[in-house]
Amino acid sequence: MEFTRFDGALTDWSVDVLAVGVSNAGDWGKAPAVDELNQALSGLLHEAAISEGFEGKPGQSFAMHTHGRIAAKQVLLLGCSGGEWSGRSVAGRASRFAREKRQSSLGIAGVNGASLSELVTGAELGHYTFDKWKRKNVVMSKLTRVELQSAINADELREAKGIVAGIKLARDLVNEPPATLTPTAMAAAAQAIADEHNFECTIFDKATLEEKKMNLILAVSAGSVEEPRLIHLTYRPEGATDDTPSIAFVGKGLTFDAGGLCLKPTGAIEDMKIDMGGGAAVLGAMKAIAAVKPDVIVHGIVPSSENLVGGAAFKPGDCIEGYGGITVEILNTDAEGRLILADALAYAREFGPSEIVDLATLTGAIVVALGPHRAGVYASNDGMLDALESSAETAGESIWRMPLDKQLRKQLKSDIADIKNVGKRWGGSITAALFLHEFAGDSNWGHIDLAGPAFADKTHDHIVKGGTGFGVAMLTEFARSASTRIS
Ligand code: BES
Ligand code: MN
Ligand code: ZN
Repeated sequence: MEFTRFDGALTDWSVDVLAVGVSNAGDWGKAPAVDELNQALSGLLHEAAISEGFEGKPGQSFAMHTHGRIAAKQVLLLGCSGGEWSGRSVAGRASRFAREKRQSSLGIAGVNGASLSELVTGAELGHYTFDKWKRKNVVMSKLTRVELQSAINADELREAKGIVAGIKLARDLVNEPPATLTPTAMAAAAQAIADEHNFECTIFDKATLEEKKMNLILAVSAGSVEEPRLIHLTYRPEGATDDTPSIAFVGKGLTFDAGGLCLKPTGAIEDMKIDMGGGAAVLGAMKAIAAVKPDVIVHGIVPSSENLVGGAAFKPGDCIEGYGGITVEILNTDAEGRLILADALAYAREFGPSEIVDLATLTGAIVVALGPHRAGVYASNDGMLDALESSAETAGESIWRMPLDKQLRKQLKSDIADIKNVGKRWGGSITAALFLHEFAGDSNWGHIDLAGPAFADKTHDHIVKGGTGFGVAMLTEFARSASTRIS
């Protein structure tokens, strides 16, 4: 998709679809862009839109052919008053409309205040589809040109496209079926990023995991014929030395979570290919980081495994010594994400990163708490919470502060090991975070539970049904701003 600037009169804008964001509810017809077009169309735009019940409300849209009365072939009004107005959502809805109507050029107006980066990411992401497994009725998009009223800054455009590429990669990985997106395939995807962008890539296979005694990853994968992997990508800024500060991202890469011997029932198992959404976000962020080039070293670490049933599966009651030397009593094999993350966090700490952030589709409880569109954030200190919140805000992703309540820590006391892997039912997302905190030790640590927003049940704004790529933009922003926090 090519992005160019148009700075002429609206009525001279020669595109197939001219999308106009409408942000003032009752008075939407008086918005300057609408008024200008309406007059050129002899008042028909307003009249026709009203007759179809268009009020400029969020999510509402109205399209009209112009029959040559202005240069654009169609005008598309997109209501966004009152609700969550953003350049991303307007651009996303506009580009999806153009795709569905098989139009090749799109102009986006009425989004004053939206940055170039927001409009580019919105247009690219709303236009996304996952067609790899479709053989019939695949509709190719004709949309090749998007025109904006904002100035096109080449660097900002290149970076936005890098973030888009990272988000699309994460979406593809989440959407890919579990039979093909195995831990081995996830490692191959990481290797491909490394090859393309000249990153270091270390991949531990099963034998290496055994040698290193990464026993928690091995336990989770024991019931599976697919081998686990620990993936480690490293980005180094140009001229990096031993003194260059570093940060680490750790993402849960559970390629299918059947629950293990504590098998999930029908109704809870169908979507569990998405359980590598945190890992996908880390790989996507590493790809975006290749374009954004932050000035700190970034480690992207993804423990990847399946969690199935089988004769060799790990069992409730087992005690396992993790990589960091802490022993864990397993009481529920379905609380497996925290186990593979525990080994990966212990591994990440070896590199001495100034900040560690893990991302995981960790608990159903966080979805109960915050709903499907927002992730929960936990951290070892307020500085990390502030940094993650402002990164998410800039990235247009929604997160919410959650507490690491000390009273709940005792739920994780084990009679026979250092810690057990589940607490009680209430506060399930918090006890999962408290478990991870033990393995993060005294590091500057943050944890994002994205079980809700990793996957969308329906298409809205720039979010397309399926894997969302949630976390990629936020992590990329976190890496970009890292050098202002650490030195
Ligand atoms: N992968 C699931 C969490 C999940 C649930 C992700 C819904 C996406 C959507 C995780 O491994 C899990 O099974 N968690 C259990 C924890 C429980 C056994 C303590 C859960 O949330 O029920
Ligand atoms: Mn599970
Ligand atoms: Zn899981």
